[in-house]
Amino acid sequence: MPKYRLLTPGPVAVPERVRLAMAQTLLHHRAPAFIPLFREVRAGLSRVFQTAQDVLVLASSGTGAMEAAVVNTLSPGDRVVVVRGGKFGERWAEICAVHGIAVENVDVGWGRAVEPDAVRAAFARAPDARALLVQACETSTGVYHPIRELAELTRERADRLIIVDGISGVGVHDLPMDAWGLDVVVSGSQKSWLLPPGLAFVALSERARAAVQTARCPRYYFDLRKELAAQASDQTAWTAGVSLILGLREALAMILEEGLPAVFARHEALARATRAAMSALGLRLVAPDAPSFGCTAVYVPDGVDGRRFVQHLRDVYDVTIMGGQGRFEGRIFRIGHMGDVDGFDMISAAAAVEMTLADLGHPVRIGEGARAMIEQLHKSGFRKV
Ligand SMILES: Cc1ncc(COP(=O)(O)O)c(C=O)c1O
Repeated sequence: MPKYRLLTPGPVAVPERVRLAMAQTLLHHRAPAFIPLFREVRAGLSRVFQTAQDVLVLASSGTGAMEAAVVNTLSPGDRVVVVRGGKFGERWAEICAVHGIAVENVDVGWGRAVEPDAVRAAFARAPDARALLVQACETSTGVYHPIRELAELTRERADRLIIVDGISGVGVHDLPMDAWGLDVVVSGSQKSWLLPPGLAFVALSERARAAVQTARCPRYYFDLRKELAAQASDQTAWTAGVSLILGLREALAMILEEGLPAVFARHEALARATRAAMSALGLRLVAPDAPSFGCTAVYVPDGVDGRRFVQHLRDVYDVTIMGGQGRFEGRIFRIGHMGDVDGFDMISAAAAVEMTLADLGHPVRIGEGARAMIEQLHKSGFRKV
């Protein structure tokens, strides 16, 4: 059987150690043995989120954690500022609108990072805004937003919260929650966490915890008051995703054995090498000025059908990457750098991109992209250890 290469920006390839951990005999989530497991996992999560706070674990996809962040810290009639520079920025605005929260959008060209001054201007237009909602990495465009600067300017008023979608950012970029004063940070298991989809994480600052007690949005499944109470005694409010939590213990062990600085450097090196390869092929990067380390977005060249391009990689070469979403559908492709992937996987991706371009009649010098990638990886000291 040909080797299947999953190189999307989530779900990601899951390492064997984690898959084996998830194959263990199922534990009941109210059994005594669940308690030390859950305690250990939450301690590991706090280290990766770089917070002294407890990180809540939900059985949900990432969007559930986004909605939990909104309904637990805000109330109908509140106003917020949303950075809207891609599909997931739009999602923040949509979730707020559903809950009767007024949104002051900061529209950002897809492929660009938000200018902190544009957010400052939005706060001037909406002085009563209770929060800023933003992605760390806007996965639909491959952009990293300047979270540290945004946190600083949000804090210029003490009662404003900064709510960060770190679904493809935490464990990829250095986003020290406490040191930067981030109030809510959410993430999802199918990204840097070396896990399948199904778990979401929510970390709350002291200020955000206080907001949870006073927020007036209707909430039931995602009522974090219940989760805070349950998780303080090492339980979940509802049935826990036990198998995924067993996998998470192993995944966290792997992440912490590698060490956070090395984890960030790994993602950065793979992203840098991918940008070098795509540029060497004459392809245009979507986010050349503010690239995320979790995924690289590239414009499909003129004359090539973007949907066909992604299908061809999958069907002919068994390489699964992602196309574009929303207004980028059919226009871009995205290669992920999260999960159980290394430099040699990226070289395979570059080779498959070259061969697909050639198959589809686009003029390409086979080997140019892979060569640039190998040179870049070699320069960065890449070793498979
Ligand atoms: C930045 C970002 N936000 C939100 C989501 C949505 O997460 P989910 O599809 O797990 O609900 C994703 C997933 O791709 C993402 O990358």
